[in-house]
Amino acid sequence: MNKDVLKISDLTKSEIEILLDRAIALKSGKDANACPLIGKSIGLFFEKPSTRTRLSFEAGIYQLGGNAICMTPDELQLGRGETIADTGRTISRYLHAFMMRTFSHAALETLAANSSIPVINGLSDIHHPCQALADVMTLLEKKGRIEGMKVAFIGDGNNVCNSLIEAAALLGFHLTIACPEGFEPHNEILEKSRSLAKSEIIVLRDPREAAGMADALYTDVWVSMGQEKEAEHKKKKFMEYQINTKMLSCAKKDAIVLHCLPAHRGEEITDEVMDGPQSVVFDQAENRLHTQKALLEMLVK
Ligand code: CP
Ligand code: NVA
Repeated sequence: MNKDVLKISDLTKSEIEILLDRAIALKSGKDANACPLIGKSIGLFFEKPSTRTRLSFEAGIYQLGGNAICMTPDELQLGRGETIADTGRTISRYLHAFMMRTFSHAALETLAANSSIPVINGLSDIHHPCQALADVMTLLEKKGRIEGMKVAFIGDGNNVCNSLIEAAALLGFHLTIACPEGFEPHNEILEKSRSLAKSEIIVLRDPREAAGMADALYTDVWVSMGQEKEAEHKKKKFMEYQINTKMLSCAKKDAIVLHCLPAHRGEEITDEVMDGPQSVVFDQAENRLHTQKALLEMLVK
């Protein structure tokens, strides 16, 4: 399948279901010695820092028998002014897929439009599809199903939130987002997802109302990479959006707590909740590995 995954809605519901089945099988150790990427090279390009995305892609590619080539902008001629389009044309001549973490989603689209190999979004300012795949795998693993579950995303309507919205629309879980005014998710993504969804996708202000009877509480940092100048202003606005024990008590008794990580402990989440029995954040981080391996198997032929 030669397709790009720049956002969750680039995949169909059935592709995600097949991918999740495969990720669960890979996690259980099935085909541990199969090497579908033998002889294949995958480029990994990072304009921003990364722990999980870099390590899970590199380790996953190795486990599938492939070769990962990791790059930063100043290691490519891109850093000296070569265009993204020419970079896209060039990478297609050597590599079998390319993952890019970038500030500009438009840059990813240009790269994908000019390359003949699958391009995967490893986080842009608008989307984080690889994260959402691990998120829904974790929901399935911990709750036994995705459809009909009630997820509350409490915090900034950012890239992680936007991808979760698209996942909710495709997979049928209810999503309530609580954020301060001015920090809503991407309006077009929200409207389009709502028009396609059978489940409810709601945006409101009161975090406790969102958390009420939720099966999962999800949060992310208040200040995303590249927003450092807004840090002080944002932190003040988000004070009441912290996931702490009081907030968690509004959710169902068996609710799980999700966080894409890295966490800013003491800001969007307390130590008590993050290290508590309902937190599944490190299983969620592990699931990046399994879902991305399944994604690479699906895309790289
Ligand atoms: N969740 C996530 O993408 O983590 P990294 O920034 O460490 O890759
Ligand atoms: N919203 C965060 C996610 C980090 C994985 C950011 O963009 O920095």
